[in-house]
Amino acid sequence: TDEELEIAFQNKVDAEQRIEPKDWMPDRYRQTLIRQMSQHAHSEIVGMLPEGNWLTRAPSLKRKAVLMAKIQDEGGHGLYLYSATETLGISRDEMYEQLHSGKAKYSSIFNYPTLTWADVGAIGWLVDGAAITNQIALCRCSYGPYARAMVKICKEESFHQRQGYEIMMTMAQGTAEQREMAQDALNRWWWPSLMMFGPNDTNSPQSAQSMKWKIKRQSNDELRQKFVDATVPQAKFLNLRIPDDDLVWNEERKAHDFGEIDWVEFKNVVKGNGLCNRERLKARVDAHDGGKWVRDAALAYANKQKLRAVD
Ligand code: 3HC
Repeated sequence: TDEELEIAFQNKVDAEQRIEPKDWMPDRYRQTLIRQMSQHAHSEIVGMLPEGNWLTRAPSLKRKAVLMAKIQDEGGHGLYLYSATETLGISRDEMYEQLHSGKAKYSSIFNYPTLTWADVGAIGWLVDGAAITNQIALCRCSYGPYARAMVKICKEESFHQRQGYEIMMTMAQGTAEQREMAQDALNRWWWPSLMMFGPNDTNSPQSAQSMKWKIKRQSNDELRQKFVDATVPQAKFLNLRIPDDDLVWNEERKAHDFGEIDWVEFKNVVKGNGLCNRERLKARVDAHDGGKWVRDAALAYANKQKLRAVD
């Protein structure tokens, strides 16, 4: 019976066994993974846009080449995650339709504008840093294809984080104007980066079930805390100030206490009313429509090959 199947499934998860595409799984487990993995893939693809804004204006050929490599990596992460999600029975076209119609979410962080070159440094340092913190936990996710995708993606993310931090270092140790740009970028990206970890555990409707199924291994607040504790010393090394007057080391907790996130802003951005939501979605829809002829040509060619193979 389904009851017995569910119990056997949960026993497998509790015994730390990986669930693979062909294994029986509760439909809600399947749907939860499709939701999270497709939104993760959407985030990677939409995440290419803020940085793409600086490709033509990178301050040197080296910076342009490094940024180009990072953006290409993000595209690859997206395609990798779409493929991993397809193993659960949803098609690529369905996922694109969910993104383009506004039905699917993607990480709030990508709805903020990149106003100066220092933003490229802050994104690598903070956004990829937060993504790594979240994704290292996901390497231990119970669903095989997702966990394995994370192992490869985390390796590339650490390069992204290092190049971002190096940009911040260069500017923080540069002219007064460069220092100011680096501090301004930190001021604008700090709090949105903390929002990447999701709502507080007390307001996280998906967490309990996700943790039971070992999709989520550490809670939103635990991972956020880990990120803050790792990043504060890095900001100190840059001699840049984190924009939070309540940020202080708590000797008892052996962790930093920090201020309250603006959850009204978070909800607004997730709902679609952030600074760049409409622009980001339009860019994706235009790119998809503009690329239709390429997909049609590739499909026509593939069909011809199939027919040739049959003759
Ligand atoms: N932006 C947008 N939506 C968010 C969000 C954020 N920062 N944080 C939470 N949400 C959404 C959740 O998706 C959920 O909505 P849904 O049920 O419609 O999907 C709702 O808010 C409630 O949040 P929960 O904590 O209950 O939901 P989850 O258990 O799914 O936890 C999460 C949220 C921690 C983001 C989890 O989904 C997750 O770990 N996702 C995979 C990692 C990911 O997507 N990272 C962000 C992308 S950064 C990146 O990869 C690019 C990098 O290379 C630069």
